[in-house]
Amino acid sequence: MSAFSFDRAAPVLVEGCVDSTNLYLRRLADTAADGTAVIAASQTAGRGRSGRSFLSPEGGLYLSVLLRPELAPERLPSLTPLAAVAVCRAVEAACGARCGIKWPNDVLLEGKKICGILFESVLGREKPCVIVGIGINANTASFPEELRAIAGSIAAVTGQRVDLNALAAALLRELDALYARWLTDGGGSVLEEYRGLCLNLGREVLAGGRRGVALAVGEDYSLLVRWDGGEEEALRFGEVSVRGLYGA
Ligand code: BTN
Repeated sequence: MSAFSFDRAAPVLVEGCVDSTNLYLRRLADTAADGTAVIAASQTAGRGRSGRSFLSPEGGLYLSVLLRPELAPERLPSLTPLAAVAVCRAVEAACGARCGIKWPNDVLLEGKKICGILFESVLGREKPCVIVGIGINANTASFPEELRAIAGSIAAVTGQRVDLNALAAALLRELDALYARWLTDGGGSVLEEYRGLCLNLGREVLAGGRRGVALAVGEDYSLLVRWDGGEEEALRFGEVSVRGLYGA
């Protein structure tokens, strides 16, 4: 990634190859200012959810932000859907493409996952913080066989090469704006936007061997599901397999 000036109060560190932008910020957790961001051109140890790795070759955008919100711990996980909304806005602004969100926080473009988000809390320190890591398959050239059915890149879907600097700038702008709103209005406006972007609503949900339909997104970003048989349940953030979204 070439040098780029980001018009922003908190620092933006631009790196070539790192192990993981989340790990990078974790190492700075005692000293970094609220809002510090790091962007890398590639990662050798990209981290995904549930202990998985995240493929991170050149061509993608790998960005993490360290935040120090003074809020009740139970509100912190809603920063993850906030980041998903920011990604949708940024992709539309920088690439002219409309994404949607597969609950809870995968961003899809025409049925392909183009972005994953990893939220991590750094607790037990003098100054606790959270790190929101975002990986976007922007110009990623190819994916291993086992990922091809679900993952894609923005460039492959749109047929247009993505300007990584413009995408990074748009993403930081949207993250900063949504975070500022989230701090002042309690996140209500972000929730409404998230609901509008959520691709699961009205679609089939498979989880824990059960099948149902997604009805709504709750105030706490849970997914309200009506199982076959009529029972309703609010699913909390976790792994839910949803048919009909990937490869659509
Ligand atoms: C997932 O879909 O499982 C989440 C993937 C999150 C990947 C991003 S890339 C930037 C940041 N650094 C990491 O090591 N992981 C996150």
